[in-house]
Amino acid sequence: MKLAVVGGGSTYTPELVDGIAGRRTSLAVDEIVLVDPDEHRLGIVGPFCQRLLDHAGHPARVRTTTELERGVDGATAVLLQLRVGGQAARQRDETFPLDCGCIGQETTGAGGLAKALRTVPVVLDIADRVRAIAGERTWLVNFTNPVGIVTRALTTAGHRAVGLCNVAIMYQRLISTMLGTEPDSVRLEHIGLNHLTWERGVLVDGVDQLADLFKQHGAALAERSGSPLDLLHRLHALPSPYLRYFYAHDEIVDKQRAGTPRATKVSEVERELLDIYADPNQTDKPALLGERGGAYYSEAAIQLVHALTSGASAEEHVVNVPNNGVMPFLPDDAVIEVPATVDSSGAKPMPVRPVPPALAGLIGHVTGYEHLALEAAKLGGRDRVADALLAHPLVGQYTLAERLADELIAQNAPFLPWT
Ligand code: G6P
Ligand code: MN
Ligand code: MN
Repeated sequence: MKLAVVGGGSTYTPELVDGIAGRRTSLAVDEIVLVDPDEHRLGIVGPFCQRLLDHAGHPARVRTTTELERGVDGATAVLLQLRVGGQAARQRDETFPLDCGCIGQETTGAGGLAKALRTVPVVLDIADRVRAIAGERTWLVNFTNPVGIVTRALTTAGHRAVGLCNVAIMYQRLISTMLGTEPDSVRLEHIGLNHLTWERGVLVDGVDQLADLFKQHGAALAERSGSPLDLLHRLHALPSPYLRYFYAHDEIVDKQRAGTPRATKVSEVERELLDIYADPNQTDKPALLGERGGAYYSEAAIQLVHALTSGASAEEHVVNVPNNGVMPFLPDDAVIEVPATVDSSGAKPMPVRPVPPALAGLIGHVTGYEHLALEAAKLGGRDRVADALLAHPLVGQYTLAERLADELIAQNAPFLPWT
């Protein structure tokens, strides 16, 4: 099978390839094509990925190309992991909202909207071109942020796409280590939207262990989630680390104002990683890659591609898929992040227990924002940007939304096709 990775010049790509290298039997990949506009990066990341495979005794060949059509021709699955505007644009997303007293984050709030506006048109164009060349049966596995909005753009345009995030697998691994069990024996009752999720239950052999986990490992779980243990008890759920931008918004704004943007740190790590990758004697994944936020991304992506393409019986994976009635208070075309049964016919969300009001309210509110964000990304227009911001629970005030809209557009004009 041929796999194409769009945004393959990313420093994350060796994470993915390392996962493939260790999984020779279950995912029969013989060709990996890295597609990226950045030739310099391809020239470093491509050969390093080949060395990772060779060193593991994996027979797959790595190719690199700047031409999308050549890269995706004949691919069974195409992974999307691009970043329009690079870390420089991310740095702006993480800083411009701070002047208005709002959090600076690349997927949440005004920064997340900026990223969506830059990204959706590019990803839709790529998806159309993939469909034209590779055919409509080709799977698009989307790791491009903001994953919820980008995946909704793809699925509402009729593409065969599934969205992926590593928050669920990160908790699954953490919890299985705490319990001393195999990761696959831990099933999460994971619910919400991408980067707005809660673990409502942790099932091991059908028994919910969440309350026990809070008792035995409360401090570590609170620490990892970024929310206090009392709040976890109050919610009867383990919130995603991204929920701290809601539950501790003002505190985080203060910290961000005093601190350094994540983009600055990531740029440094990327420079160092590229130096390491460029060393012809380097044949293993460097520990430094662990400083990026993508832990277990490779595991999640490989499991998902395997489930979508192998023809094996359905497996349960947490993915981003259209709601289609699973949460009755949301529109069918909203993209939600829940456990789904996945096989070669696609990902089908599993039914969920009634969602309590505190969660349903926030999920519904952000779903409304995501709808308007997608409209703004597809149709453009300053007022559509302001409408989306007004609908975001972390913005919500008229004058604030107006200011943020103007600032967002000023900072991103070169990447907004409608300006
Ligand atoms: C987690 C999230 C990803 C996000 C990443 C950021 O893995 O699930 O959606 O892209 O963190 O990591 P970074 O190292 O770029 O800050
Ligand atoms: Mn994510
Ligand atoms: Mn699994």
